[in-house]
Amino acid sequence: MVKRKRIESGAGDDSCAGTKPSIHNFSLEEKCEFREKLITWFRENQRDLPWRKHLSNPDVDQRAYAVWVSEIMLQQTQVATVVEYYKRWMKKWPTLQDLAKASLEEVNEMWAGLGYYSRGRRLLEGAQKVVQEFGGKMPRTAEALLKHLPGVGRYTAGAIASIAYSQATGIVDGNVIRVLCRMRLIGASSTSQAVQNKLWSLANDVVDQDHPGDFNQGMMELGATVCTPKSPSCASCPAQSLCLAKAQVERNKSKNGNKLGIKDSIAIPDIECVVEKCDLCLPENETWDEREGVQNYPRKAGKKAARVERTSVCVVCRRKRDGERQYYLVQRAQKGLLAGLWEFPSLKVEEEEDENSDHSIHKVLQSSCGLRVPAAIQSTHVGSVEHIFSHIHQTYVVQAVEVSEEEVDDSRVHTESCRWVTKEEFSSAAVSTAMKKVFKAYENLGKKKISTMDPGKNQKSITSFFKKK
Ligand code: ADE
Repeated sequence: MVKRKRIESGAGDDSCAGTKPSIHNFSLEEKCEFREKLITWFRENQRDLPWRKHLSNPDVDQRAYAVWVSEIMLQQTQVATVVEYYKRWMKKWPTLQDLAKASLEEVNEMWAGLGYYSRGRRLLEGAQKVVQEFGGKMPRTAEALLKHLPGVGRYTAGAIASIAYSQATGIVDGNVIRVLCRMRLIGASSTSQAVQNKLWSLANDVVDQDHPGDFNQGMMELGATVCTPKSPSCASCPAQSLCLAKAQVERNKSKNGNKLGIKDSIAIPDIECVVEKCDLCLPENETWDEREGVQNYPRKAGKKAARVERTSVCVVCRRKRDGERQYYLVQRAQKGLLAGLWEFPSLKVEEEEDENSDHSIHKVLQSSCGLRVPAAIQSTHVGSVEHIFSHIHQTYVVQAVEVSEEEVDDSRVHTESCRWVTKEEFSSAAVSTAMKKVFKAYENLGKKKISTMDPGKNQKSITSFFKKK
């Protein structure tokens, strides 16, 4: 079998004729072929996404604003989820200038349910900065965007600059990592510094100089729709002839065929890295798993386990004299997780508290907002609601009380960060997905109680409601 030993060549040379690269680089011919095939494929196959409509706008600041909003929303969030949020956002704040006039409360309301709430706040702060400090003109290069805009990292700066300004700069996100690691057999952990540096240098090297926006969007689109984490569609990939992971799969198939006595008409060359102890290759102690095929790349980094937390939540419903029902909400601190969002009175169970900790509704209300309800009032145990934040596995242990207007005393409450809302107001308020789940559990319990006609069920004394599952 022919061994194809490759010679290291530096990234960055950009004429379309040249030397053979190392397996982790693209040769000049490969770059040219990749650019042409990827851009053609992207132009013919791109999804109809609302932010792409803005790219034909002759106003460069409008293009940049549209890309900025979409890229921030797309961080850690699926395209399908983002689409409706994006449309609503652009309808409410069609320009940077409109956004700069918004309040943080309005932005949080618009962002409710999208998660990672600091993203919305930073967009607002960025728009205010562009309007106040730069006369409404967006910084014009990736470097300047990175320097001046809060919440804009290397990836987002590169995306805005390449897509909105046609700056020939590469980008690396999760989709691009997968495409490049497979194409260039990068099997070391994609979070290692060596791999990160290599991916950025490859992305900058391979990006099309004349159409960087289409090329970069094409890379992301390819990763999102063809070169997917599970069940990739290699047969319909425009870059399949350049993909070394696919070549490796074919080579293994052919080797296995030879073992069974089936001979190939042409020998498929081995693909080998010539660098000793290469910090980009699959580590020596980890072998290629035949069943995984191209999915051997990129190597999945060991994820840190999420922190486990429990929080007592109390849904307080006030029946007004006219029959209207209202719910009590408290605003979270302006810094930290879910900053500035509204929630039902909540109290975290500290680690030192054991599973029989007694979080009575009085304790939750006193500790979180100072609301007072009659001492003898009965609470209803709603149940547990699980919510996974990026780094916290949260269990909300939910209980509910219903009080009449006369029974509740909120006179000692600091009113700016506490309020009563109707169900309709709750649904459009700046509340997290977790609190929406809590409210749904509460409502479902109400429905169950009516349908089963069993008012005694779920009634609990106000003490010792709290039990770990
Ligand atoms: N993911 C994030 N940004 C994207 C874009 N512009 N196109 C396709 N997928 C993306």
